[in-house]
Amino acid sequence: MKKISKIEHVLDEIQTPCYVCEEAMLEENLKLLHYVGEQSGANVLLALKGFAFKALAPLVSKYLKGCTSSGLHEALFAKEYFDGEIHTYSPAFKDEEIDAVIALSHHLVFNSFAQLQKYKVKALGKCSIGLRINPEVSSSPVDIYNPCGLYSRLGITKENFQPQLLDGVEGLHFHALCEQDADALEAVLKGFEAKFGAYISQMKWINFGGGHHITREGYDVEKLIKLIRDFRAKYRVKVYIEPGEAVGWQSGSLVASVLDVLHNGMDIALLDTSAEAHMPDTLAMPYKAQIRGAGEAGEKTYTYRLGGNTCLAGDIMGDYSFDAPLHVGDKLIFEDQIHYTIVKNTTFNGIKLPNLAVLRKNGKFEVVSNFGYEEYRRRN
Ligand SMILES: Cc1ncc(COP(=O)(O)O)c(C=O)c1O
Repeated sequence: MKKISKIEHVLDEIQTPCYVCEEAMLEENLKLLHYVGEQSGANVLLALKGFAFKALAPLVSKYLKGCTSSGLHEALFAKEYFDGEIHTYSPAFKDEEIDAVIALSHHLVFNSFAQLQKYKVKALGKCSIGLRINPEVSSSPVDIYNPCGLYSRLGITKENFQPQLLDGVEGLHFHALCEQDADALEAVLKGFEAKFGAYISQMKWINFGGGHHITREGYDVEKLIKLIRDFRAKYRVKVYIEPGEAVGWQSGSLVASVLDVLHNGMDIALLDTSAEAHMPDTLAMPYKAQIRGAGEAGEKTYTYRLGGNTCLAGDIMGDYSFDAPLHVGDKLIFEDQIHYTIVKNTTFNGIKLPNLAVLRKNGKFEVVSNFGYEEYRRRN
């Protein structure tokens, strides 16, 4: 997939910090996901937890079948901004929200038989009811993103499965992957069929969850298509997949400015952004974000430790090197900062939330959300 970022053409216009989603790059992802849907017969949904960017909802709705939400607020957001189906799964629903969730949702997925029994009567005839199961197979690279790890609360294991309570249940859902290839899905499907195969044919649909890294260079798209087609042919069920990351993958960046340059044993640049508040997965996963034009420490002539503008000592993006010294006012482009950033960021330390902007296909740069003190005041 050829993606060409054009952000450098509008860099002068950008007030930092700012997340900039590039419409053309996002559309490349959406076209590929649409192709997967067409070729495999799967219904491809956007997982809002990874990418909820309302200004781009019309574009997403052009290519995908709807949204999957993690509870009332995401379901409301899906209804307000997107077209298509709304699927809602939550580890546990609440009495005061369930009626609204049912009214909004086409599919409602429970995480336990207790929740199913509690809310089934309300949901019957209004939503297609499903259960999240835990296939207990996952090769997720890190524990924090492994839904099938030891003592996981996410999904029903085979040991806790109660077939006598399946009346009214039309679907099964699993989510076991994180940034993984079709081979990993194949292994999960084997485990799923081995444990729950007896119940698949009595279902109307099976949801294969998210974590499919479909839009990453080198992902075996044809293998995914074959896996889904074979599964559909074998069991005669509808198949859903609900990627989040694959929708927003490499669709834009976070642009920040250098505020100060210090020296304490090494050169340090302070930026008007924060790893902790604006790029939380760089600390949680953890991973090191790429910066356009920068190398690893020592690779180019000028090495700096880059730090955020908060008082958290560990608010550090990492050590990077550059061809030229950094100066106050220089802009840095952190690559691939659209998925799981905007949806997770905070106003920690009162730091300004980065604005949201779209670089349109026609080259127009548009700030679509402008954040200031209000955000901090409302949340504290
Ligand atoms: C139930 C469920 N579905 C879908 C997703 C989306 O996963 P990803 O963004 O990795 O594709 C997640 C992510 O945590 C999830 O928990």
